[in-house]
Amino acid sequence: MYESIFILKGNIVYSKSASELKVCEHGYLVCENGEVRGVYQTLPFEYGGIPVTDYEDRLIIPGLVDLHVHAPQYSFRGLGMDMELLEWLETNTFPEEAKFQDLEYAARAYKVFVENMKKGATTRACIFATVHRKATLLLMDMLEEAGLSAMVGKVNMDRNCPDYLREASAVESSAETVEWIKDVLHKKYKHTRPILTPRFTPSCTDELMEKLKMVQMRYGLPLQSHLSENPGEIAWVKELCPWSDFYGDAYDKFGLFGADCPTVMAHCVHSTEEEITRMKENDVFVAHCPESNINLSSGVAPVRRFLEEGLHVGIGSDVAGGSTENLFAAMSHAIQASKMRWRLMDDSLKPLTVEEVFYMATKGGGEFFGKVGSFEPGYELDAVILDDSRLEHPQPLDVKKRLERMIYFSDDREIFAKYVRGKRLF
Ligand code: GUN
Ligand code: FE
Repeated sequence: MYESIFILKGNIVYSKSASELKVCEHGYLVCENGEVRGVYQTLPFEYGGIPVTDYEDRLIIPGLVDLHVHAPQYSFRGLGMDMELLEWLETNTFPEEAKFQDLEYAARAYKVFVENMKKGATTRACIFATVHRKATLLLMDMLEEAGLSAMVGKVNMDRNCPDYLREASAVESSAETVEWIKDVLHKKYKHTRPILTPRFTPSCTDELMEKLKMVQMRYGLPLQSHLSENPGEIAWVKELCPWSDFYGDAYDKFGLFGADCPTVMAHCVHSTEEEITRMKENDVFVAHCPESNINLSSGVAPVRRFLEEGLHVGIGSDVAGGSTENLFAAMSHAIQASKMRWRLMDDSLKPLTVEEVFYMATKGGGEFFGKVGSFEPGYELDAVILDDSRLEHPQPLDVKKRLERMIYFSDDREIFAKYVRGKRLF
């Protein structure tokens, strides 16, 4: 009768909110049909006889959610960071992304990305591919095969990029997007979903934005893009869209800013009061990408402000603006960047805490996928088992302290097992 029920035993840690971390030492996590039934210190009588996988003294946490990452940029991670955003795009990013026209190259490059994502603690991701429809579909095939759960976007860009990458017109860009969506629907993926991906306002004409709104309405897709990342970019958007009240308004005027399509915007480093208010009104998710914002000299986003306002906030690796897909590293970068912001820019916003960044990397970003990122009843069961025995210590450490050390200095060696939507990947 209990065929699809199983139980994981170990030190269970998850967030209820940004300020509330729940810990259940040597507890039981009951999963049925891919969803969490409950977390229990003592196993209820009714679950007697159900198989238990005992992870002993290891930690069990929700799978991590990368709310913003560029799969084709994985090939140049850790390279070419001595530039700001716009120069970095022209010099490093566009030439590399152009290579994904070649499906053989795309297969080789995406294999590295997907294998490393599979090994890591990330179970969900919002992923930018490139403008290339076929290579994007190939990436989706590979992610589906790996068992990860991702939203993937074919990128749209019909202006302000080199000829070799620019889509010929708004008509062509939207037609390719529709073809890609039809291909995706035909594939009937279980875990991989399409997401509309206009790269950012400077790359998309008004005509293209209008057409993407039609596509969004026809297929009911969510949307991801970039927002208020870097001063040069923001000044450019003002020039390109003099009719907009602020950068986010340049999306909102086309109905592409949350109001009736779930939307995640990366960065929001320099969002104004008006922009923050609109994001709140429209339920726009923020993907905070602290390492990228440092590498590309963009700045530090006022994340505590977002949390206090009740905005949805998750964490993004933003590879290759960020050098690593490891979201534990992204969590520590978020704390460190917030300390510099507090010390150097604005002491009214206190630095972020371990509880807050862990929340952002799990439930905060997970909400973009539905009931994801926690172990409360009804949540989809994404879980990562962490074995920190390599990281020796002479003194006793409680579970929260062990989690803190994972955030500051763990790597893939600590990842012992991983479950996505109730299925064990390894
Ligand atoms: N803005 C537009 N494209 C990009 C990109 O590829 N990376 C980052 N960090 N910002 C962008
Ligand atoms: Fe990005």
